[in-house]
Amino acid sequence: MKIIVTGATGFVGHAVVRKCILSEAITSVIILSRNPVGKLLKRKKVRVIRHDDFLSYPPDLLETLRGAQCCIWCLGKKPRLWLNPLSVKKVNLEFPLAAANAFKSNIAPGGQRFQFVFCSMSGAEWDPLESFWETADIQAADIRKLKGAAERGLLDIAEEAPEAFRAIVLRPGFVKSDADNLSSMAIDGRPGVHVSVLASALLRVCIQQPMETIIENEEIVELGTV
Ligand SMILES: NC(=O)c1ccc[n+]([C@@H]2O[C@H](COP(=O)([O-])OP(=O)(O)OC[C@H]3O[C@@H](n4cnc5c(N)ncnc54)[C@H](OP(=O)(O)O)[C@@H]3O)[C@@H](O)[C@H]2O)c1
Repeated sequence: MKIIVTGATGFVGHAVVRKCILSEAITSVIILSRNPVGKLLKRKKVRVIRHDDFLSYPPDLLETLRGAQCCIWCLGKKPRLWLNPLSVKKVNLEFPLAAANAFKSNIAPGGQRFQFVFCSMSGAEWDPLESFWETADIQAADIRKLKGAAERGLLDIAEEAPEAFRAIVLRPGFVKSDADNLSSMAIDGRPGVHVSVLASALLRVCIQQPMETIIENEEIVELGTV
């Protein structure tokens, strides 16, 4: 299986590419990245394509991606790293929707449905008017709504073109290094998951195509631990 991965210079995306390298089911990994990726990811079956504008997918790029059956989308921006609200909206909402629209009918091998596996977050909120009385953290509330809007947008695209495109959303809680103790690190009672477990779950979903469309943290742990 040929697969596209974004966010490979980041915490989650790096772990996903490492899993792809080890997986016999994955024959080819295309990383789309604006920055160079670490040496550890430079392997025979991995190709890195420098891509600066994640709103735009010109025909020659789509030609290179042709044959891919799945994209694991790990590109995103954490609230603490926010530069300005517009850039956060662009990265977390507009980028994945632009990619999904470009990939939906252009690159999967003949007759196959393209799968877009989206790394979202637990607590992603679909209602833009939700007030989040339980948190005073405006940035955390906004990111939940942006992730919710991205999820909805992806599922809408899938509904419009069910033969060509499918979106699957994974909603991890706090993602921790494998060396960390999850229970001692729980914050606000939100669940956690080790990064390699999340990466395994993202890849497993890609390969096995489960029926579920939205996969919460607890099931991510189950899927990624088996
Ligand atoms: N870490 C967690 O605890 C956690 C929990 C729940 C959900 N998530 C979600 O999981 C996803 C990945 O998280 P992470 O922890 O791996 O984040 P990360 O380490 O900050 O990595 C973010 C990735 O997104 C890319 N990126 C950000 N802005 C970009 C832009 N403007 N153009 C191109 N690429 C851009 C970065 O590339 P550059 O290196 O080029 O900047 C990097 O590869 C995010 O969507 C996040 O919301 C994370």
